[in-house]
Amino acid sequence: MKKALLILSATVCMASCAEKSSPEAEMNKFVDELMSQMTLEEKVGQLNLLSMWFDVTGPRMSEDVEQKVKDGLVGGVFNFWTPNAVRKLQDMILTQTRLKIPLLVGYDVIHGHRTIYPIPLGLAATWDTDLIERIAAAVADEASADGLHWTFSPMVDLARDPRWGRVCEGAGEDPYLGAEIAKAMVRGYQQGDLSKQNTIMACVKHFALYGAAEGGRDYNTIDMSRLRMYNEYLPPYEAAVKAGASSVMTSFNEIDGVPATGNQWLLTDLLRRQWGFKGLVVTDWTAIYEMEDHGVGDKAKVTELSINAGVDMDMVSEYMIAELPALVTSGRVKEATVDAACRRILEAKYRLGLFTDPYRGVSEERAQAQMLSPEKLDLCKEAAVKSIVLLKNERQTLPLDASKTIAFIGPLVKNQRNLVGSWSAAGDWSQAVTLWDAVERKFPNGKFLYAQGCHLVESATIRRNTDPNGNVIDDTPPQQLLAEAVRTAKGADVVVAVLGDAYDMSGEAASRSNIDLLDHQKTLLKALKETGKPVVLALMNGRPLTLQWEHDNIDAILETWYAGTRAGEAIADILFGNANPSGKITMTFPRSVGQIPIYYNHKNTGRPFSNDSKFTTKYIDMENTPLYPFGYGLSYTQFTYSGVQLSDSTLADNGYLTASVTLTNSGDRAGEEIVQLYIRDLVGSITRPVKELKGFQKVALKPGESKQVSFKITPELLKFYNADLKWSAESGDFLAFIGGNSDTDNKAKFTLQ
Ligand code: BGC
Repeated sequence: MKKALLILSATVCMASCAEKSSPEAEMNKFVDELMSQMTLEEKVGQLNLLSMWFDVTGPRMSEDVEQKVKDGLVGGVFNFWTPNAVRKLQDMILTQTRLKIPLLVGYDVIHGHRTIYPIPLGLAATWDTDLIERIAAAVADEASADGLHWTFSPMVDLARDPRWGRVCEGAGEDPYLGAEIAKAMVRGYQQGDLSKQNTIMACVKHFALYGAAEGGRDYNTIDMSRLRMYNEYLPPYEAAVKAGASSVMTSFNEIDGVPATGNQWLLTDLLRRQWGFKGLVVTDWTAIYEMEDHGVGDKAKVTELSINAGVDMDMVSEYMIAELPALVTSGRVKEATVDAACRRILEAKYRLGLFTDPYRGVSEERAQAQMLSPEKLDLCKEAAVKSIVLLKNERQTLPLDASKTIAFIGPLVKNQRNLVGSWSAAGDWSQAVTLWDAVERKFPNGKFLYAQGCHLVESATIRRNTDPNGNVIDDTPPQQLLAEAVRTAKGADVVVAVLGDAYDMSGEAASRSNIDLLDHQKTLLKALKETGKPVVLALMNGRPLTLQWEHDNIDAILETWYAGTRAGEAIADILFGNANPSGKITMTFPRSVGQIPIYYNHKNTGRPFSNDSKFTTKYIDMENTPLYPFGYGLSYTQFTYSGVQLSDSTLADNGYLTASVTLTNSGDRAGEEIVQLYIRDLVGSITRPVKELKGFQKVALKPGESKQVSFKITPELLKFYNADLKWSAESGDFLAFIGGNSDTDNKAKFTLQ
């Protein structure tokens, strides 16, 4: 293959300069040389990111992309992959463009590329950052082998409102856990060295606060105090940036009245100056264009705002390419600002090794070896098993006895498409193993019955607002499906109802005002309950649901999320006790939608909730606790906690203390428990949350076994942003809680001197 002269000369320079200068200096020299040859239009071209194959989420489609690539007007493309397609495109660059600058190739690889792992909210429920890092590395292996350099992940938006459809893409409601998971994902994708061909660039999104949309309605307005931002919503973004994430994506929302994509405080003062971010900032899909609808200016103005705020790359709007040359000529944008943005994009390409090998070693053979390899499928199964949360288990309904007659009922028993959830990238859902196939394979002589029970989605409104092709329903009358299901249930010893949402009822633009199980599915569940048979509810959905009736009436409830390519096998292992559930929810499950926002780390208020007095903070028409608190999840065994032991009752400002419990498996099965440390700062210069997660460990115990579980508490762990936005710990009394979920009252007191 004929290589670009530029690339050859870069290689020569890189080899000959190696001993003399640092890699950073070599890169700077290379980029300087390259930029010295670029016209303003070519520099602006680098800032242009276009969707190649299809239109995913927005109103506009990039047209004539190939021609624009040839004209040097494109810096990167996305929604595009496979070794041959990517090689062809880079060939075009090398043979038909003046400067032969390879393209960045990105894609939303959110929870797997070809092998699909559980949705991020499910992965978070594993609380296993080592597993999540291994998954991100495995995802990078597949994605890079398929020609990708860049994933638009991790999404680290803290979310406390389950009406928001995108809660499925993140880690839930907690800043500490969110930050730990964000770091793990960045480490996994980037491996600390993007020149390795099996890595991809991470992109932290959506910067910032996107998860706090009013009413949980996607794209809605956000208005938040700096204190809340710094103490609660920003930590996961900051952690990901400090873990070395190479890129950041702006969010659609406004912050302090200025859209994030044009917000200089956010993108320059905070991100670059305070946090020291050196990578590239890309907008979300058409976010510059949308600033016109936000009402902050016309096409030229919003382009000016975005580049001056600190945006480097324009996703799909094509406003930068259209407006920047004139804005520079008129002096509204300095050429140096365009240069800085262009430089960051070229640096990313350099770090990825694209100037040395524009193909990054992609080949069909490498792709074949990586895609859906046995190791990746095993990892997928491990993650799926660990992500499942047992929400209820009365009278040991679970695990099931395989010698019994079991009726599997529901529209999700045999459904493949939904197992991989929304945003399952290039994953092929036809590879996903359904629960029905898994149980039939697992127990070839099992007495299993099946009935569909109902259509997945009957509501015409929901069907209209989701995937019109995915939610097609056949003509079978609902009454007929229901009658068959009841007949089938009556012939069984136990019923497993597999119900929940269609995959596209979660994700972008999938907010719900009602998060109950769909009405017609509840009707089915009630009918199954009326048969008098024990009923297990296995849920598939992408957000916390309101499950009060189910909790009060159903014997056992499993939250399986959308567990990915090997979902069915994982669910079967849990149902039949080959695996013991260990997942814990990372978002509070409310009793009713009216309780939202409801989250564990709330403030105490001056009238904390009490059942003993009317004049406390509460609703008068319901129980005020959540149905399932943050951190909650059951096991087939029982874990008992001793009281919290502190190594000391005082903590010096340069010292540490340990808080420990003895954890015992007091049941009769081996199991894993996620032990959680929470801290409460009893008195502060500003009010402090009633509890904050500050540590967690997953502990495996055999039946009867005990282990001491210890956490180190340092003054650093007690710091928060005060009213001056200063990060400091304040002396005084604290409570350390250790338990199996955020509702624990197992605590001890200590004093920071
Ligand atoms: C989403 C982003 C995504 C982008 C590109 C947008 O609509 O908000 O999360 O990365 O599209 O597909």
